[in-house]
Amino acid sequence: MNRKKPSYYNHNGFLMPMGFPVEGFTSALNYQAQSSDIFLVTYPKCGTTWTQYILWLMQHQGNPLSPSEKLETYIPHLEEVGKENIENLPKPRVIKTHLPYDLTSYHPQAKYIYVARNPFDCVVSFYHHTRGFIKHYDFSEGTFDDFFECFIRGEVDFGDYFDNLVAWYEHKDDENILFLTYEAMKNNIKMIIIKIANFLRGDYLNCIENEKILNNIIINSSIENMKKDQQRWSSKRPKNMPSFVRKGEVGDWKNYFSSEQQQRLTDKFMMRTAGTDLKHLWFF
Ligand code: A3P
Repeated sequence: MNRKKPSYYNHNGFLMPMGFPVEGFTSALNYQAQSSDIFLVTYPKCGTTWTQYILWLMQHQGNPLSPSEKLETYIPHLEEVGKENIENLPKPRVIKTHLPYDLTSYHPQAKYIYVARNPFDCVVSFYHHTRGFIKHYDFSEGTFDDFFECFIRGEVDFGDYFDNLVAWYEHKDDENILFLTYEAMKNNIKMIIIKIANFLRGDYLNCIENEKILNNIIINSSIENMKKDQQRWSSKRPKNMPSFVRKGEVGDWKNYFSSEQQQRLTDKFMMRTAGTDLKHLWFF
């Protein structure tokens, strides 16, 4: 069957969205992590923007961004803006990246927050993302089944889901890595914010010592509030496409997967995570 495929930039086998400046990727690989850096690391669609906004709120006593402010000005995406833009940020920097472990700059004192999401919901969310950013991917007519085939082969932007997850998971117990899941965030965001504050320490601890600030962080980063101003999270999304902050649910995949697709992704998950206890995170 002749399936539709999204368009990507191909950097020696590593695929990137077409809307990203080509030089941003090469430049990002040369960024040298600093001891005070905080990296927010995710595979796409695993809760990046939510966590990014929580970090911003934690830095700003729970007060929301003003309508004229953009989150990515404060917490930019390394592969999109390139290393010079990151170097111009005041320290301590908070940096968003989707890079796999072996391409992410390492500093033993830098801190890395990794957010993982189960691959079933990730692929559904990634499908809507890809068809919605028409200029980035030219995939507005693509179906879920088309995208599923690309995802399961690892032929999507930012590389293979399992390459990213498994390599970062191997480091989950490192002192400077905090490994979180989207599902745990959905289950108890207060506990996760406390974990983040205890991991980052310094001024971040104020957020959990003051109940009012903590509540404001929770309220302002709730999906209901984030849905109110979609332009803030993504100004490039056409109006006829699903919004960027979409459903924010666990288990939406059941509305999309055939039983054959469910079996194939389960098989792939078991094969690619064999020898780890990753399956306990989500399924068993
Ligand atoms: P869905 O498409 O399943 O709804 P990323 O920021 O990494 O691109 O992840 C996007 C996913 O996170 C989307 O999932 C989006 O709806 C969800 N999301 C964004 N803000 C959220 C929030 N405040 N609470 C829960 N989920 C959120």
